[in-house]
Amino acid sequence: AQRRRLHTALAALLLPPAILWELRDKMRAELEHGLKRETQAQATVKMLPTFVRGTPDGTEKGKFLALDLGGTNFRVLLVKIKSGRRRSVQMYNKIFAIPLEIMQGTGEELFDHIVQCLADFLEYMGIKGARLPLGFTFSFPCRQASIDKGTLVGWTKGFKATDCEGEDVVDMLREAIRRRNEFDLDIVAVVNDTVGTMMTCGYEDPNCEIGLIAGTGTNVCYMEDMKNIEIVEGNEGKMCINTEWGAFGDNGCIDYIRTKYDREVDEGSLNPGKQRYEKMTSGMYLGEIVRQILIDLTKQGLLFRGHISESLRKKGIFETKFLSQIERDRLALPQVRHVLRQLGLDSTCEDSIIVKEVCAAVSTRAARLCGAGLAAVVEKKRENQGVERLQITVGADGTLYKLHPHFSRILQETVKELAPQCDVSFMLSEDGSGKGAALITAVAKRLHNVGQ
Ligand code: BG6
Ligand code: GLC
Repeated sequence: AQRRRLHTALAALLLPPAILWELRDKMRAELEHGLKRETQAQATVKMLPTFVRGTPDGTEKGKFLALDLGGTNFRVLLVKIKSGRRRSVQMYNKIFAIPLEIMQGTGEELFDHIVQCLADFLEYMGIKGARLPLGFTFSFPCRQASIDKGTLVGWTKGFKATDCEGEDVVDMLREAIRRRNEFDLDIVAVVNDTVGTMMTCGYEDPNCEIGLIAGTGTNVCYMEDMKNIEIVEGNEGKMCINTEWGAFGDNGCIDYIRTKYDREVDEGSLNPGKQRYEKMTSGMYLGEIVRQILIDLTKQGLLFRGHISESLRKKGIFETKFLSQIERDRLALPQVRHVLRQLGLDSTCEDSIIVKEVCAAVSTRAARLCGAGLAAVVEKKRENQGVERLQITVGADGTLYKLHPHFSRILQETVKELAPQCDVSFMLSEDGSGKGAALITAVAKRLHNVGQ
């Protein structure tokens, strides 16, 4: 009877093929809405033009700074790119912490902190007087009017600094540099992490026209034909679109697959009602979904002898890395119990089996949902090109994609299942998106100089 109750609780997380196909089609419809002039203003999947018009061609060169803000780590990088036959990219980077009170303080504090880290890095590298061009990877939705302008549409994930939404993030960075009055930089490009990832992988593989992040948050960008982007002038060539697909479902269109656990996670988040797809598929939230289920099962007397411990009440205890550890195939149950003990949860052997099952159900659903979304994107690319079969590479990054023992495999299997006419290769972005931001900066700088 206990097993049956467990299965009933987890059944709501199962996504049968028919539902996955339906979700693929819904995502496809949302992608179209975001591109069309009449529907774009209400679209939940925003389809933001990035003003990146091509992937790298190997002629990029120079010395650049890059900032990478919005994932697990905040980094400052120095990137040296050589072109020609001996083309290469050399990188130096430093990780800096962003304390919670800065992430959720005032905008001025946040940007002052970023510039403080930049100053430390320039000092450390001994390049304070150089006035290098800078590419800013800023992993939040931005409405762009050019490559070096981006208005923050709204914070997502764990950020909530005041007075930033509706403001230009490049201006905010420039002002913070001016306030400090210690060094000068030439901010050339603002780039989403998906775009940086696509460019990083595109440097190795010209067939890479999609960038995927499955990390703290989730998102995809891809090269779209200009003629399909109604809100940008011109019909020639392509432009990269930042889909911001994390907001898929914010109009209620996937509410029928959301469970009470998802609703609880949403209500306890910094942005209730927003980023509904992201909250079912990405690292920042999966552990919270697991925790909600464990609380429910404990209340039903199925776990932890019916006792909800202090630790289990703590928001955020189940970080993605614990999920990844618990689900490792060869991890024997005593080790699962050890991981749980580290989290302050005393478990019996029975408990640890159930916890592992819950984690698997949650991460499998996430991977399948993400796969359904990606299938919509590759199918759209195939139709754009008017080919029977499409060969395409997806550049991918993010802790969930990289560290989870099953996520990437299930994601790939789902894409195969739901986009059978596409041969999709996945390429791991090894160096993060900083390299991509530098490549974009190099191209922008070259075009700018040519124009002068
Ligand atoms: C990093 C990229 O490798 O991955 C970042 O450099 C990106 O730009 C991040 O935001 C996404 O993964 P996570 O798991 O750190 O959010
Ligand atoms: C969130 C952000 C998006 C970013 C993604 C992955 O969804 O809104 O811009 O690409 O997280 O980091």
